[in-house]
Amino acid sequence: MAMLKIPGYENQRPGEVPLEAVRDLLGDCRRCPLCETRTNIVFGDGDPHARVVIVGEAPGKNEDLSGEPFVGAAGKKLDALLQIAGLRRDEVYICNVLKCRPPSNRDPRPEEIAECSPFLREQIRSVWPDVIVCLGNFATRFILRTEQGITSLRGRFYETGHFHVLPVFHPAAAIYDRTKQASLEADFALLGRWLAEHPAEGSAAAGTAPVAGAVPAGEE
Ligand code: URA
Repeated sequence: MAMLKIPGYENQRPGEVPLEAVRDLLGDCRRCPLCETRTNIVFGDGDPHARVVIVGEAPGKNEDLSGEPFVGAAGKKLDALLQIAGLRRDEVYICNVLKCRPPSNRDPRPEEIAECSPFLREQIRSVWPDVIVCLGNFATRFILRTEQGITSLRGRFYETGHFHVLPVFHPAAAIYDRTKQASLEADFALLGRWLAEHPAEGSAAAGTAPVAGAVPAGEE
C-alpha cells in the first residue's frame, strides 16, 4: 500500500502528522461509491496521543447519522468493555477500517478497504499508540495482514513492529451471540493487565522504530 503523501509534512515520522491534516486530506471523500449513500464521514474520535487505538469495521446507522464512531448499541458495549480495562472512551482513540457506512451494514468490500485503509494507516501513525485493539475480522485482517479468523486469533497479543496488537470479537457480535461476551470481557481484562504491566513507552515523537505489519505497509 502506498504511503499517503500529506502536504506540508516532508518525512511523516511517527506522530509527526496531526490527525487534522489526515482529516483534511480525506476531505469530502469521493474515492468509492459509499460516498453516494453516506450521511456523514466517520473519521475517528478520542485522544490524539492515546496509548490504545481501537479499530472497528465501519460505521453503522447511528454513527452515519452522528459522524461519531461507536455511538449505537455496539458503542455502549464498547464503553462497558473499556471500563473493564480501566479505560474511559476519551482516553483511547477510536476509528474504523471504513469511514463511511456500507448500505444496510453489509460487509466492507475489498475495493472500499483499498481506498479507505490508507487513511486508517495514517491515523495510526499519527497517534502512534502502544496497543491496537482490533474489533472483529476486518480490522484484524488489515492490521495483522492475515486471513485467519478472529475466533482462533483472539485472546492474546501479537507484535507487529512498534505495535502490540490485541484482536478481539467485535462487540456487536456479543449482542447477538451471548457466548462471545465472556471472551470479550476476558480480552479487555487482559488489555487492562497489559497496560498496567507495561508503562508508557514514550511519546509519539520518540517512536522512530521501524515497523512491520499492515499498518505501516511499505516501510518495513
Ligand atoms: N461498528 C463498527 O465497527 N464501527 C462503528 O463505528 C460502529 C459499529
